[in-house]
This record gives sequence, structure tokens and C-alpha cells, in this order.
Amino acid sequence: MSKLLSDIVTIQEVKQETPSVTTLIFNHRYAAKPGQFVMVWIPGIDEVPMALSAPDAISVQAIGDATMALSSMKVGEKIGIRGPFGNGFSLAKRVLCVGGGVGLAPLRMIASNCDEALYLIGGRDQSELLYLNELMSNPAVTIKAATDNGTYGHHGFVTELIALSDPDSFDAICVCGPEMMMKNAYLAFEACGVVNRVQFSIHRYMKCGAGVCGSCCMDPHGYRVCTDGPVFYAYELGDEFGEYHRDAAGRRVKG
Ligand code: FES
Repeated sequence: MSKLLSDIVTIQEVKQETPSVTTLIFNHRYAAKPGQFVMVWIPGIDEVPMALSAPDAISVQAIGDATMALSSMKVGEKIGIRGPFGNGFSLAKRVLCVGGGVGLAPLRMIASNCDEALYLIGGRDQSELLYLNELMSNPAVTIKAATDNGTYGHHGFVTELIALSDPDSFDAICVCGPEMMMKNAYLAFEACGVVNRVQFSIHRYMKCGAGVCGSCCMDPHGYRVCTDGPVFYAYELGDEFGEYHRDAAGRRVKG
């Protein structure tokens, strides 16, 4: 699989997962670890990094030009895929996953790559709990959910479930979501004394995806999120985590 040239794949199925998240299933399966990502080229628009939510799928939330174009794609349309890239999660027999919103996408494949998993999933309301029914139908998976408005599960933030979930009993802990959510997860795991075992999937602006351009470097260590990550242990994260990221011009952006 080339890191420089895209495979042109055809969308075979479009699944509306929640009101804001769509899964595109294409006609090529990638041998990828949970947490690895691909560069998705939308002809005439842009190329963006996206986690594989299955060996042959990406799950998209429409928040910019590229993701809005992807979200409105139909069966039979074509996109380019480069990759898979990055390190992915290090897994074990019993895994605790913590995901918020579309951050569940890189955590989805963990359910089929371990003996037992507890998923703590968060969303705005019940309709935005991504993969809820799919995960509930997996006998290896237990779920605890949290919603902002209390329409399902815990009324509050998903990170508030961490202290109630005996995190020390898990062999691996994997987190993905908005960076402020992950920072709160970091603090909750720190309070439980297990933070250095926690793996966070980091999202940064990317151009090449292959360790060449430097656009995804994180302060202060200079880790390239595309090749050194996107998954980092807590002790690898620096002051930048939860505080700021860089835009396409390299300028610091708060949050
Ligand atoms: S995106 Fe170019 S070095 Fe990471």
C-alpha cells in the first residue's frame, strides 16, 4: 500500500449512525490496527485525516468543507484513500474505552480485538451516542453511557463515569474525543492513580500524513502526530495537550 498515492475506492454503503455522524463503507479492506488513520481525498475539495472505524469504513461528522462533502456522498461515488498511517492503540485482554461523540470512531474496532471491553460513551443526547446499538449487541462489550441532557444513562459528562468504573482493573485504557474531554479524562485517571497507563488518540492538522511536512508536530517534544502517534501515552503528552493546537499556517489556536 502506497503512502504517497491514493487508492481510488468506491462507496458501497452509506449508514446514518446518528443525526450528525455518517459511516461510509467502501470496496477495499485495510489491514489496520484500531486507532490507525487514513488520508481521505475528496476530489476537488481537500485531503483530510480520518480514523478507520472499520477495516473498510470511516465515520464522518460534518464540521468543515471536507467532512460536509463526505457526509453528503452517495453509494457509487469515489474517494481517495492513503494509508493506513500511525501507530494505533496497544491492546490487551481487558480494555477500557472512553469516547465522546465521533471520537468513538477509532475506538470502534477495539471491541473485536480484545476478550472483554467496557465502553464509556458520551454524547449530547441519546440519539448522538455513536455505535450504541452495535456495541450493545456484542457479548464481549459492556457499556456505560452519559448524555449532556440526561436522555440516556448518566446525566453529565462521560469523564464522570471513569472513577465509577474501576479503571485499575483493566489491562489497557484507550481514550478519544474532543481534546477538552480528553484533558478531563486525563485528570480523572490521574485521580485514580492510573494515568500513565492511558492511551490518548490525538487529532492535529495534517498535510502529508507521512512524517514529512512537520505540520502535525506537538510541543514540546516535537512528536509528529501522524507517525509517532496519533496514539500517545499520557506521559508522552506535553503542555500543549488540552491547551492549544496549530492551524494550517502553524499559528497557535486555543483549545
Ligand atoms: S502531517 Fe506531515 S509530518 Fe505529520
